[in-house]
Amino acid sequence: MAKVRTMFFCQGCGAQSAKWIGRCPSCGEWNTYVEEVIEKADAAPAAGTWKPASTVPGGSTKRVAKPTRLAEIMHEDEPRILTPDAELNRVLGGGLVPGSIVLIGGEPGIGKSTLMLQIALALKQMKVLYVSGEESEAQIKMRAERLADGQHPGCYILTETGTQNIFRQIDQMQPNIVVIDSIQTMHSTLVESGAGSVSQVRECTAEFLKYAKETGVPVLLIGHITKDGAIAGPKILEHMVDTVLQFEGDRHLSYRILRTIKNRFGSTSELGIYEMQGTGLRQVSNPSEILLSQRAESLSGMAIGATLEGNRPLLVEVQALVTPATYGTPQRSSTGFDAKRLQMLLAVLEKRAGLRLGQHDVFLNIAGGLRLDDPALDAAVCAAVVSSLNDVPIAGDVCLAAEVGLSGEMRAVPRLEQRLAEAQKLGFREMYVSQFNGRNLAEQDRAGLRIQAVSRLDEVLQGLFG
Ligand code: TYD
Ligand code: MG
Repeated sequence: MAKVRTMFFCQGCGAQSAKWIGRCPSCGEWNTYVEEVIEKADAAPAAGTWKPASTVPGGSTKRVAKPTRLAEIMHEDEPRILTPDAELNRVLGGGLVPGSIVLIGGEPGIGKSTLMLQIALALKQMKVLYVSGEESEAQIKMRAERLADGQHPGCYILTETGTQNIFRQIDQMQPNIVVIDSIQTMHSTLVESGAGSVSQVRECTAEFLKYAKETGVPVLLIGHITKDGAIAGPKILEHMVDTVLQFEGDRHLSYRILRTIKNRFGSTSELGIYEMQGTGLRQVSNPSEILLSQRAESLSGMAIGATLEGNRPLLVEVQALVTPATYGTPQRSSTGFDAKRLQMLLAVLEKRAGLRLGQHDVFLNIAGGLRLDDPALDAAVCAAVVSSLNDVPIAGDVCLAAEVGLSGEMRAVPRLEQRLAEAQKLGFREMYVSQFNGRNLAEQDRAGLRIQAVSRLDEVLQGLFG
């Protein structure tokens, strides 16, 4: 009889080892290794023992992969399932791919179950199976009743954690889409350790993966995340699935961001924005409007930058507060923007624009709770700081998009065209950009939006504050 193979796994990061270790060499945590059975006695023969096809029993009848010329490979465009949720379609790269497996991670209470249930209910033409290992049928029913669109005769709820029974029910029901809430509560009898353990999570994911690939039914898995934001369970989980989405946002603010972390069928820089309301999640299709909503009057210390998140242009408000430092060393604090970059921009303002910031505290905030690292916001950050320092407001219909270099030069930014179009759509009248972004930018004036193409930061400050 074959031996039962066991391994030791770190419960924190999923690292594995043949023997027990006190401290995980990969994540540094103590006492996290537990022994788990990785293979049952009657499991498949060990992988990695390669034999020529002719010596494998039945090898000659199997399809043997051969190299093919790239030009000869036929390919069809994958037909995508368009969900009624435009934000989700966007982060998936244009809809759900049949047979794909999508993992959605996020902190507890952020709204993962709400989002999935909402999508399950909105897929009216489909038979959807929502499997929950976390809540009772009554709880799910109550949640569905809160949702704006809580009726769908083709949406089935199954409260079960054993994968064997789940597959039995799936066989009978033949759903078009399966949602699993959550992968950490699932349990397979092929593995002996408890639900949520590294080998269970891996085994259950492998079973759903096999099901998805064989039947072409997309499976949406909800995953928990650990306290440092990683998806709980082995890192290998992220490698197994096709797409990893992260649902994030401040639990106390109502905006939620759905971000692509990995996507085999599209770009990973996409972003979907939702607002949590009493009746579920509402798609925010024009985020610039909410990010800019509170600008009824012009206040000093505010500047609007045109940034890009993924393929989507966003106009965001950069707020700065510059006050004389009363206690010792001046403070520099930044929310939503890289603090080191802020320091650098302050040094540039000091050296190249002659501002005296050494005796001032500087606080910077990106409105709406977003975290952005687009260098194109540099010019808006500088403008907001100068506006607050001099207590002179910037007109509400002016925005900026340029990187600022160490010698105070305005540097070009990628995809300016999209940023200009967004500013124009939202009714901005003037936009400062780098001269190096294109030769005849200034002549390209579009209806209502005047383009100020400049080469140095002091020209921007001159233009804004005279
Ligand atoms: P939930 O979707 O259960 O989050 P997760 O599955 O990620 O743990 O929780 C959603 C939170 O949102 C919960 O605190 C209640 C709140 N909520 C609303 O504000 N409006 C709603 O319509 C619903 C259904 C939930
Ligand atoms: Mg939940």
